[in-house]
Amino acid sequence: MTTQEFDSIVANARDAFATARTPAELENAKAQYVGKSGRITELMKGLAALSVEDKKTRGAAINQAKQAIEAALNARRQALADAELEAQLKAEALDVSLPGRVREPGGLHPVSLTLERIEQIFASMGFDVADGPEVESDWHSFTSLNNPPNHPARSMQDTFYVDIDGDDGIPYNLRPHTSPMQVRYAHQHIKRYADGVKRGETMPEIRVIAPGRTYRVDSDATHSPMFHQVEGLWIDEDISFADLKGVYLNFVRAFFETDDLQVRFRPSYFPFTEPSAEIDIAFGSGPLNGRWLEVSGAGQVHPTVLRNMGLDPDRYIGFAFGSGLERLTMLRYGINDLRLFYEGDLRFLKQFN
Ligand code: PHE
Repeated sequence: MTTQEFDSIVANARDAFATARTPAELENAKAQYVGKSGRITELMKGLAALSVEDKKTRGAAINQAKQAIEAALNARRQALADAELEAQLKAEALDVSLPGRVREPGGLHPVSLTLERIEQIFASMGFDVADGPEVESDWHSFTSLNNPPNHPARSMQDTFYVDIDGDDGIPYNLRPHTSPMQVRYAHQHIKRYADGVKRGETMPEIRVIAPGRTYRVDSDATHSPMFHQVEGLWIDEDISFADLKGVYLNFVRAFFETDDLQVRFRPSYFPFTEPSAEIDIAFGSGPLNGRWLEVSGAGQVHPTVLRNMGLDPDRYIGFAFGSGLERLTMLRYGINDLRLFYEGDLRFLKQFN
């Protein structure tokens, strides 16, 4: 074999390796040259038949060719591995210019905004803020409020009952109003100051609001089976209807951010207040200009309720009111359908934040 022939074997091998696109193709190409029955291997087998002298020169030439082929093979192996790694890196590349997946900031529900507002306004008038259970005893929701079983006024607030009986054998209810907080809070208040009162100190006044969820069997554009109220209660030795009117007027003027607003008391009936009133407001301008709008029930706390609180009605007197938060929210923002509050439609909710 001539040197040229060796050179051409090596050149062919290089070409075959260069055209191999994958490691598997490369190994196939390798087999044809340095594999068990490859060209180089065959040439080596042929050495056996040669003379010692020829073996030397031929063997050296074969070895040289073999080394060249193996060097080309290793170079190609490396090139294929590099290409594979590069492709992998490319595929897994992080595009740092892509915008991140952000979580949009949330916002408060309009009724929650109203609740926060109301708490701030009443806190500024010296009112405490109290919280109470939504699953109530019959006594707290009705009887303690001078509304005993079979009283016809109960049907005004026909409510949801829970499958658990209270100590009196009457099932618990989902409170139809926040008024049970009147007696609950009074009890807490009296307990808090009991030691001082025993030492002859006077009990501080009761001045509190209690906002929260309430439930009634009612459902249309202006009534929802679940809604929110805020209860107000101010009891001391000399609290009058004038105080109620002053507090409420202050509240609505702060809440609606206008002094161009009037309050009117309309006679009404609640078992737990005497006398009782509905509070109406009227704006002096704007789309609702001049229309009287009912926003609250109210009244002077009934002597029976004071007694149930543990207070002497000959000494203590005060007022209570209960206002619907949805109603106040609708008036503030000009919303005409209560159901929008509960549908969770972001197009509606986003407008408040
Ligand atoms: N609890 C009454 C209602 O839900 C409102 C009210 C509260 C009336 C306090 C008088 C005093 O309709």
